[in-house]
Amino acid sequence: MRHSLSEQDARRLLGGAPVLLVTTRWHGTSNVMPVAWSMPLSIDPPFVGIAVHASRHTHDMIRFSEQFALNIPSRRLLNHVQYFGVMSGREIQKIEAAKIPTFNARKVDAPLLEGCVGYIECGLEDALRLGDHTLFIGRVVAVTVEKEAFGDTWVLEDDDDKPLHYLGLDYYGILDDRLQAKLQTTESGGLRTDEDEIEEEMRRREEEAEEQEEAR
Ligand SMILES: Cc1cc2nc3c(=O)[nH]c(=O)nc-3n(C[C@H](O)[C@H](O)[C@H](O)COP(=O)(O)O)c2cc1C
Repeated sequence: MRHSLSEQDARRLLGGAPVLLVTTRWHGTSNVMPVAWSMPLSIDPPFVGIAVHASRHTHDMIRFSEQFALNIPSRRLLNHVQYFGVMSGREIQKIEAAKIPTFNARKVDAPLLEGCVGYIECGLEDALRLGDHTLFIGRVVAVTVEKEAFGDTWVLEDDDDKPLHYLGLDYYGILDDRLQAKLQTTESGGLRTDEDEIEEEMRRREEEAEEQEEAR
């Protein structure tokens, strides 16, 4: 059964990108906040975007320092992420209070957080005010990953190395499995979607190839 939601609910349906911890440093103080609203914007030059509400301390930190780092937390940092998202750097030094170790980034001043599985360092390319959020466009200057967690894609073998996905309120998810799509067309150019039929067709093609190999 279908039912209607309000226009403001569209954002909830679009949730699911990995949660990012945005770190910033300005005049010797550092801050961190989680963002769920992020997106790649361009491959060449490499631009990524994050939407930050104008009321966040991070908003000012990015404006002033003109750089930021995106740390991708794994399941191990679940409770840290929630904590960083309910406290503001205006009231408390969150990184110190959470006793989370940091290390130096390669190209920006913002600190990187231990326990994350990927890091994207950005210089501020542009800032677009869109409604109550600002889309900060970062030019990527360095990318670092934990090998166990990311190969050509997220590896998704050990639950503790999987990125977190924000579902809303204080709920998060992790991806269960990595599925590989098998694109197989029929003779008429249509798409075969039945798993058993695809397996059968693959076996038939393999046998055909073996027979041709033997005939040579
Ligand atoms: C998982 C999660 C995702 C969030 N995503 C966003 C976001 O995309 N944009 C935003 O402006 N605030 C987002 N927030 C809220 C901020 O993280 C929160 O207001 C935070 O306390 C701001 O910290 P700051 O004032 O130190 O910058 C999110 C909060 C949580 C818990």
